[in-house]
Amino acid sequence: MNAAEKISELKKQKNAVILAHYYTRPEVQDVADFTGDSLALSQRAAATGADIIVFAGVYFMAETAKILSPGKKVLIPDPEAGCSLASSCPAGDFAVFRAAHPGATVVSYVNTTAGIKALTDICCTSTNALDVINSIPEDRPIIFAPDRNLGAYLQKMTGRGNMILWDGACHVHEEFSLEGILALKTRHPGAPVLAHPECRGPVLAVADFIGSTSAILREAGRNPAETFIVVTEPGILHEMRRSHPDKTFIPAPPTDPACACNDCAYMKLVTLEKILSALETCSPEVLVPESTRAAAERSIRSMLALGC
Ligand code: 13P
Ligand code: SF4
Repeated sequence: MNAAEKISELKKQKNAVILAHYYTRPEVQDVADFTGDSLALSQRAAATGADIIVFAGVYFMAETAKILSPGKKVLIPDPEAGCSLASSCPAGDFAVFRAAHPGATVVSYVNTTAGIKALTDICCTSTNALDVINSIPEDRPIIFAPDRNLGAYLQKMTGRGNMILWDGACHVHEEFSLEGILALKTRHPGAPVLAHPECRGPVLAVADFIGSTSAILREAGRNPAETFIVVTEPGILHEMRRSHPDKTFIPAPPTDPACACNDCAYMKLVTLEKILSALETCSPEVLVPESTRAAAERSIRSMLALGC
């Protein structure tokens, strides 16, 4: 039996489910029971009847699953799979920042640690961020953390002048080359540019469509164009090509053509061998101290309760 077949056997034996993000390796997405964006994955994690959740993604995603399903065993194939965006917002510094703005509603992107979620009023993902911001009374100041690019995009879309942004970013999405994208546009006139809102403002300014990974996937199906320029982590190309084999998807280049800076090195740490080992040994397990978990759960449930 190969690794994928052994994984499939063990999953059945142990009543386990594998949830994978679109940025993981193609072969990892192929063994998953469910592949999705960060919102869909958290909804799945909250609803699963499985005893074990193997989270093929980064740490904050597995942690979110544990926060929502404390009675389940949540396994992370590689606990080193972090996130530069989550790391750009340490809980101690954020507590000081929050205290400096009393009366503000705190909105945090799910790409944060459990400690930040515990200091948050309502979480959001890139899929529902606009709806979450619009659910807050217009006269109420908002602290938005940790992504400055998504924050600036939300300010622009909502016209809200009362958003206070944390200065964090995702290294993967900050590294796209504006010049490279413009060159691709010249070479492929008519190819829509699909960009994730974690990209820098000048990149978003030349995009034809801005959205989360699931929104980008939907647009690739809805838009009649045959060729698309894709400005997000290239793991998404696997699902795009699988769902739309008749279309051409061109990944946008990084600023430094010699590096693979637009690959999320953390997501790519998840391999079939590590998933197999996690299922065999029931480890490494994600644990969250109960006081942090309960506070973090409130902010995630507030988001899920909006139903968007
Ligand atoms: P979404 O899954 O919400 O599109 O977010 C992308 C991302 O950066 C996940 O780490
Ligand atoms: Fe974090 Fe960026 Fe990787 Fe997403 S792509 S997990 S935000 S480092």
